Amino acid sequence: MAELRNIPGTFDVVPAESGPWEVVVATFAQVVEAAGYGLLLTPTFEDISVFKRIGDSTDVVRKEMYDFVDKGNRHIALRPELTASVVRAFIQHRPATPWKAWTGGSQFRYEKPQAGRFREFHQLDIEAFGSADPDLDVEVIALGWEYLRALGVTQVELLVNSLGDGKCRPAYRQLLLDYLLQHRGELCDEHRARLEENPLRVLDCKKAPCRAVVEDAPRQLDHLCDECAAHFARVEEGLLALAVPYSVDPLLVRGLDYYTRTAFEYAGRGLESAQNALGGGGRYDGLVEAMGGPDTPAVGLALGIERILLALEAENTLPSGRAALDAFVVDFAGGANARDLTARLRASGLRVDRAFDGRSPKAQFKAADRSGARLAVVVGPDEAAAGKVGVKDLKSGGDQLTVAMEDLVEELRRRLG
Ligand code: HAM
Repeated sequence: MAELRNIPGTFDVVPAESGPWEVVVATFAQVVEAAGYGLLLTPTFEDISVFKRIGDSTDVVRKEMYDFVDKGNRHIALRPELTASVVRAFIQHRPATPWKAWTGGSQFRYEKPQAGRFREFHQLDIEAFGSADPDLDVEVIALGWEYLRALGVTQVELLVNSLGDGKCRPAYRQLLLDYLLQHRGELCDEHRARLEENPLRVLDCKKAPCRAVVEDAPRQLDHLCDECAAHFARVEEGLLALAVPYSVDPLLVRGLDYYTRTAFEYAGRGLESAQNALGGGGRYDGLVEAMGGPDTPAVGLALGIERILLALEAENTLPSGRAALDAFVVDFAGGANARDLTARLRASGLRVDRAFDGRSPKAQFKAADRSGARLAVVVGPDEAAAGKVGVKDLKSGGDQLTVAMEDLVEELRRRLG
């Protein structure tokens, strides 16, 4: 039988490599919970209509969704992102606002797998509902920034833009479309064919022909209504006040259609340009209502765990994560001591492991070394008979000392400092 392998675009994170993941997730929880965001968990799959509102003209919905009809004849999709699910949950549970939630987990997009781009990837996310205050945009943007800083990511640039709202965007859209129609022949194949569907997508196109045309295209920032302009000014003022460095990028539109006003992205400068977004987000004041809920302004962000790890790796600041074991019990007196001692030592709060299968002292010491434990607790027949145990420092070497069984925990603690 052919060896079973994971599907392209997915990956395993084996225990030896998962320490940094734990740090990346725990640090996020710490940063956002300190700002009042509570953990929310939603299912990894939903009725496909939940995700349709991301935008019919977006690649995420049009080309990349993993969808299927289940045995109960429901049209299901694996979530390609979290915002739509969080909005669905918000509408369903009707929490009092302001409502601030954080979440995370696997997302699924049928993209071309490459470095930093996977078909199953992982996001960390916050969403805040019930306030149109631009200071909340600032809070969300600054939390993402503070988080990346806390992890040690320094090669990152914050880009912000305003996409206008229902009042000023339609006129801008028309202006942009008129301009692009004059240059239709110069656009990339895809956008030449689909221009009318959503001209804003062209601003986001990474292909050279579109980029050249877009250079002189009208900018939403120059065509904001007074309210959107005031909102954006307050966001800039807030970022300055909190000393969060940023650049205004008038071409930043993001790949999802639900944004209004503020949009932003954390661009990793140490990564390849096509996959350089460590995360991004924005305001989506119309989405809750569009999905059948009450008119509720909202803003949020998502960061890609894989991208963050790549950025940390590029900067050589990948956190090692998990603390090493304190002790490893080596028992060549039958195994009962290993069984009982590991349980006792773990109950006392120490991090302890052991070998199984009655292996030779040599094999057990090898396992102890490989485990990374600081100390070995050694029980041979002589020690067992005398009610004693040996303690050996595996890191500094040195002689094995013998202590009475009842003094063991204290002795280990003393040695571990
Ligand atoms: P997004 O820009 O589609 O936004 O995704 C956020 C982040 O997820 C990206 O910046 C990137 O780090 C990561 N990401 C996206 N696709 C992949 C992939 N195929 N492989 C690896 N990483 C990937 C959203 O998802 C919005 N829901 C963000 C948001 C929250 N807006 C408001 N609230």
